[in-house]
Amino acid sequence: MKNLTFNYKDKAAVVTGGAQGIGFEIARSFLAAGAKVSIWDYSTEALAAAKSELKEFGDRVHFAQADVTKTASCAAAAAEVPFKVEILVNNAGITRDKSFAKMTSEDFEAVISTNLTGLFNVTKSLTEKFNGDSSHKRIINISSVVALYGNFGQTNYVAAKAGVIGLTKTWARELGRKGFTVNAVAPGFTRTAMVAKMPPEVLKSMTDKVQVGRIGETSDIANACLFLASDEAGYINGTTLSVDGGLVI
Ligand SMILES: NC(=O)c1ccc[n+]([C@@H]2O[C@H](COP(=O)([O-])OP(=O)(O)OC[C@H]3O[C@@H](n4cnc5c(N)ncnc54)[C@H](O)[C@@H]3O)[C@@H](O)[C@H]2O)c1
Repeated sequence: MKNLTFNYKDKAAVVTGGAQGIGFEIARSFLAAGAKVSIWDYSTEALAAAKSELKEFGDRVHFAQADVTKTASCAAAAAEVPFKVEILVNNAGITRDKSFAKMTSEDFEAVISTNLTGLFNVTKSLTEKFNGDSSHKRIINISSVVALYGNFGQTNYVAAKAGVIGLTKTWARELGRKGFTVNAVAPGFTRTAMVAKMPPEVLKSMTDKVQVGRIGETSDIANACLFLASDEAGYINGTTLSVDGGLVI
């Protein structure tokens, strides 16, 4: 059997929310594996920082300021992408955590429109940009482990992330014969800026729940995306891959 080497020299990807956190690591990993990558994000500051950190990749990396909640913004970003795309990673996401009693309809709408409607908007906007000659097109949607078990204070987030899993299964059925696979990745606790700021005792109580005894690194999630996007993963379609150290078994 052929060993997996991630060589994306002839492929191009779009990564939403790619200017920081998990999305940044996904974008950086595809770039390091030879791909061209268009990074979409709505944060000007994060885009500027990512641009300076990814200088070494020259014109293989493209940046678009895009708000995934707005169809016009997605259409403008898609029009700017300077290459045909084989891989889309729908990663942009936010939280507005509050107990159900305290959650407002604005909190609910904000999270649904970013974490669920955003995937619809972005994927629609890229319809013409996908490389019609490729039979190895990939859509990877970032869900979350909490979609699988519910979570106190996250009515909006869990509803959106569970919706992502349903949408993924539906696209897997609709797009399978059009040369796509569509899968979701469900990260567990992953070390991003937000997690790094947590008090040590909170971090310890989270880590204690993880079977492998550590929280996830952004590279753990990026590696799952590299695998799912590979030609070798072409028979994996409609699944949700938990990358959580065994948190949810
Ligand atoms: N960090 C975790 O522990 C964890 C666990 C499970 C799932 N996730 C999911 O992984 C994804 C990335 O999370 P993260 O922890 O890296 O978050 P993050 O806040 O570090 O990064 C999210 C990125 O998305 C961008 N973004 C947010 N709203 C946007 C919009 N409307 N349009 C365009 N860009 C937008 C932000 O500017 C930011 O760059 C999210 O979908 C999140 O729900 C994270």
